[in-house]
Amino acid sequence: MSDVISTLLAHMTLDEKIGQLNLVIAGDAVTGATVSEGVVQKIASGAVGGMFGVYGATPVRALQTVALEKSRLKIPLIFGLDVIHGHRTIFPIPLGLSCSWDLAMIENVAKLSGDEAAAEGLHWVFSPMVDITRDARWGRCAEAAGEDAYLGSRISAAMVRGYQENGDNSLLACVKHFALYGAAEAGRDYHTADMSRLAMFEQYFPPYKAAVDAGVASVMSSFNDVEGIPATGNKWLLTDVLRKQWGFDGFVVSDYTSVNEMIDHGMGDLQTVSALALKAGLDMDMVGEGFLTTLKKSLDEGKVTEDDITTACARILRAKQKLGLFDNPFRNLRDESPKEIILSPKHRAAARDAAARSCVLLKNDNILPLQKTAKIALIGPLADDKRNMQGTWSIAGNWEECVSVLQGMKNAAPAADISYALGANVTDDPLIAAKANIFGEKVIIDPRPENELIAEAVREAELADVIVAVVGEAQEMSGEAASRADIGLPGKQSALIAALAATGKPLVMVFLSGRPLTIVNESKQAGAIVAMWFGGTEAGNGIADVLFGDYNPAGKLSMSFPYAVGQIPVYYNHKKTGRPYAGEFPGVVDVPSKFRSRYLDIPNEPLYPFGFGLSYTTFEYGDVTLSETAARGNATLTASVTVMNTGAHDGEETVQLYITDPVASLSRPVRELKGFEKIALKRGESKTVQFTITTDHLKFYNNDLHHDWEAGEFIIAIGPNSAQTRGVAVTWEK
Ligand code: NOJ
Repeated sequence: MSDVISTLLAHMTLDEKIGQLNLVIAGDAVTGATVSEGVVQKIASGAVGGMFGVYGATPVRALQTVALEKSRLKIPLIFGLDVIHGHRTIFPIPLGLSCSWDLAMIENVAKLSGDEAAAEGLHWVFSPMVDITRDARWGRCAEAAGEDAYLGSRISAAMVRGYQENGDNSLLACVKHFALYGAAEAGRDYHTADMSRLAMFEQYFPPYKAAVDAGVASVMSSFNDVEGIPATGNKWLLTDVLRKQWGFDGFVVSDYTSVNEMIDHGMGDLQTVSALALKAGLDMDMVGEGFLTTLKKSLDEGKVTEDDITTACARILRAKQKLGLFDNPFRNLRDESPKEIILSPKHRAAARDAAARSCVLLKNDNILPLQKTAKIALIGPLADDKRNMQGTWSIAGNWEECVSVLQGMKNAAPAADISYALGANVTDDPLIAAKANIFGEKVIIDPRPENELIAEAVREAELADVIVAVVGEAQEMSGEAASRADIGLPGKQSALIAALAATGKPLVMVFLSGRPLTIVNESKQAGAIVAMWFGGTEAGNGIADVLFGDYNPAGKLSMSFPYAVGQIPVYYNHKKTGRPYAGEFPGVVDVPSKFRSRYLDIPNEPLYPFGFGLSYTTFEYGDVTLSETAARGNATLTASVTVMNTGAHDGEETVQLYITDPVASLSRPVRELKGFEKIALKRGESKTVQFTITTDHLKFYNNDLHHDWEAGEFIIAIGPNSAQTRGVAVTWEK
């Protein structure tokens, strides 16, 4: 422990130590420079360690000044906020960003977000969110990086670096939600998550661990229970795994009132659950004030020790020290919102680029890219909309700054003849609209009858060369507490797509969503389909770049698109079954027999698999070659493949490496992503991509949770997505 901190701790009263563990929400406590008396009192008495949700020069300065001038020890406050995919300039939602498979771009998004956040007095961002998610019903898959542990881990580390290794603007990152929050049963938010330790270590833990390995400063506990004990009070998670196994040395914060919520989980009263959380290894209590109001009593009653409190306090003080707050409590705070940073041309350009790179082209029957002189019928409830471009968790973003798809297309192609019709409401259900409008009006229902809206759109469509339908979810239909049981296009939008398709005109369906949707019918009706997620401030310009071919789309899905809700959870790296269905394994005959692992009514495969995404050009993969097909011990192998751009456009391709371990001491997944490389190829150009493979790539957790590899045969496969690879076998002996 550093000297400054130990000296400080030696001077602190018990109350002052407990105060540091208290993260307080400002609510309406700050209006301009005026701070409510209650909050001033609290800070002055040393009962506050950090402020949640306060940003901007005036309020930050006002509150920090109270801490520095009125509290006995003048310990600066730490200011934290949900900066999830941008602060003022909003980038695509994390699910969208993850589909870029572009780690440098994602790291830069974190860095630029941090630049804006730092300029407004923030020190700490509640990001990255790295929960593995295999269930598209769960609204929070919008905030995560998809279904795969390897991709998720690479993104997790990239984001931590972006936030924390940013010179003077470096912030503290907070990896969340530890742990298993993405596995909420039935896709219902805040629900229990129940799984084997094997699945935890193999599939769900790696992205959190990757953040720890990248030096993340803080961890947020999750709302759910893990093996029956809520994560916020789970010592095995917060101490044994996180600190002892992984060597985490930062501080752990609860999720919003998750200490108090342990009462509802059935863990006891506020005093009991607060003591449980502290003992488990939780350091900071977000908003609920269970620590503030009960720890002293627990100490008196011997339920916690002073050492427990001091340890937590020291971790928080060390984080403040790391930020340099003791030397400069106002850090990068500017008295005026700096225009060269906030929503600057540089940030907007990066957001536009990220919006285009996040798009995934799911189908294209030679319709895209569009001609810039075409007569285009632009249809749909999200086509001329700015309110829903940012996506969930864009707290400091302003939708009025956003570029709509209509505006973006006009900007990109001034000579195009673009007509517009609404076609359908996102939803016609006032109750669903009310839920989607909880943070401001996002859904405005046009009261005209649905047939009239569709008829008007069809009239426009019939006059055009090509139809672009922009449909999907309103932004608050995904995100926290936004689970959906039916994940098709909401409202009458499917009927709209069917009616537009019936005109026989070329139909492009662009959809916004915070999750994979079930779009089997639409996938047959539309000639081209683009997933644009929620693209952020520059969404309209980004999608226009894609539609007109100024950017050749290169996104690849980070989450499988289910064929139907009944398939969920559906993910590419599933285990094997003793009764495989034909197609999954060669040699098994596809007959309508019973006793196979299959559905009667739908295929086993998702509609679009993990790693899938098209381009305007085509890529041809050669055979995979290995430097050796028999290896021993700590050998290093090289797997190579030559990829050629055989189409008519320059483009980018993400070359994916999958490894299969066919026989082991336990049943292993059918394949697992172990590497990827994104390459740019001019038309006609080819490149050889090489992956280095070591025994680290072969390791897995066995039944004793021992992480090692076992000798035998492995299949090294490379391809453009998880369902389309070519493999070669290697035998690897000990
Ligand atoms: C609850 C969410 O689960 C978490 O992700 C977020 O950081 C906190 N609220 C604070 O807003």
